[in-house]
Amino acid sequence: MFEDIKASAQGFITVKLSKDYIEKSLLKLFQNNKIDLSVNINELKDENDGNCDNVLVDFSSPNIAKEMHVGHLRSTILGDSICRIFEFLNVHTHRINHVGDWGTQFGMLINYINIHYPKFKEKVPELNNLTSLYQSAKKMYDSDKEFEKNSKEYAIKLQNDDEDCKFIWNALNNASKKEFDKLYKILNIKLDYVGESFYKSKIPAVLKMLKEKNLLTNIGDALCYQSTKFKVPLFLQKSNGTYGYDSTDTAGIHYRLQVINANCIIYVTDNGQSSHFETLFELAKKAEWVKEGVKLIFVGFGLVLNEDGKKFKTRSGTTIKLINLINEGTDRAKKDLLEKIKSKSDEEKKYFEDIDKLSEDLCVSAIKYFDIKQHRNTDYKFSYDNMLNVKGNTGVYIIYAYSRMCSIFRKANINVDDISKGELNLINQYEIKLGLHILKFPDTFYFILKNMLIHKLAEYTYDLTTTFTAFYENCKILGGDNEHSRLLLCAITKSLLKVSRKQIVIFHVTRKKKKKKKKK
Ligand code: ARG
Repeated sequence: MFEDIKASAQGFITVKLSKDYIEKSLLKLFQNNKIDLSVNINELKDENDGNCDNVLVDFSSPNIAKEMHVGHLRSTILGDSICRIFEFLNVHTHRINHVGDWGTQFGMLINYINIHYPKFKEKVPELNNLTSLYQSAKKMYDSDKEFEKNSKEYAIKLQNDDEDCKFIWNALNNASKKEFDKLYKILNIKLDYVGESFYKSKIPAVLKMLKEKNLLTNIGDALCYQSTKFKVPLFLQKSNGTYGYDSTDTAGIHYRLQVINANCIIYVTDNGQSSHFETLFELAKKAEWVKEGVKLIFVGFGLVLNEDGKKFKTRSGTTIKLINLINEGTDRAKKDLLEKIKSKSDEEKKYFEDIDKLSEDLCVSAIKYFDIKQHRNTDYKFSYDNMLNVKGNTGVYIIYAYSRMCSIFRKANINVDDISKGELNLINQYEIKLGLHILKFPDTFYFILKNMLIHKLAEYTYDLTTTFTAFYENCKILGGDNEHSRLLLCAITKSLLKVSRKQIVIFHVTRKKKKKKKKK
């Protein structure tokens, strides 16, 4: 394994891996033309890791009738990456969108709609401007006591399955989901809607169980769980008898642990909700719903700020629409692309025919990568210039690096399958350096899995592309003496970049294939 081991007087031990060991390990990682981590990950696992083979990720989870904001964007991107990481390891993963489709805000909306659209049932009005509807209703709710009182009554009516209330509730749900789905489609993210309302019928039985275990206390007329660690209790039933966010989350965690039998549940929200989830986990453990080895994980994250370091809002103070954010980024990406195309030949220009789609892909990749590369607990500034910079550590840079790699094989007119059969022979420092970086992948992946720190994957990917560039610039690949081994090293790098890029959810920007000329 080692070519050399040295101990220094200060107590440092330096080991140098042997060339033979590096070569063999690289080939072990690259099975059947693919990066295969299954063996490595199992070797790295320890007894505390448990056996997660049924994972549930609760992410994105915007609220019905409200705009999805940048916080939801972070949850969506991070949560999706986490799912992709488990899916890469062939772990069964539930992608759950716990949408806020329940609670007192619906009483307010139904009340408002009944006043302003009395013919709602006969003719459902255009609900495409749900945010302004929500804002107007909220304004009335905050300023008009009578309206507030009636809204609360409507909330109770809805909880008791009143037909008219449910009709409006359904219409609001459908309209909102249509908007959310547009965004998920652009982001290429799949989610299953299992919103708060799914658990409402399950709440009474769960509360009964908790009462029997003496875990609940009364605060006034409300029924609560008071944590030992956190001040704010979980309100499981409000004084007017209704259920809210805490009640659905409690029934939800019970269902996920006891019915779905998930052995790893991950909640992805902003750090502001960390004590809510820690309290929820504490309750689930006290109620003995959490079997041995089962993991409950809160993956929190910081804020997205504007370039001045303030909360990300429009000038008028309202939240920024995600769709507008993507549209603006797409316009900018398109401008950059048009500039780039200018110097291309007519033949090459054909690759960029679908420039609108390409620009959107570039923009989405750039936004996703920029988010993923931040340590999730820190706040970051949203900046198009930094995101779309071709030379920096950006999604756009990674995409170009990947297409450069593809072009090596295109130019050589070589099929990757033919290369992977031969031997590796790493002769100079650039080849060794690249080989060593590739070998760090299993440990990096394991670290990410253990700590849910996805930015490490972005960091790894970026370093992979720069190490590759140094190799590419200093070693003659095609036509050199070591051609076969170098092509194999390229093939491993390419395949690894494909994996890590997929996990950090960068798009593959597909270029149009050249049309084959018809034979006469
Ligand atoms: N709808 C919530 C929000 O917008 C997030 C829900 C997170 N998931 C959960 N199970 N509570 O803040």
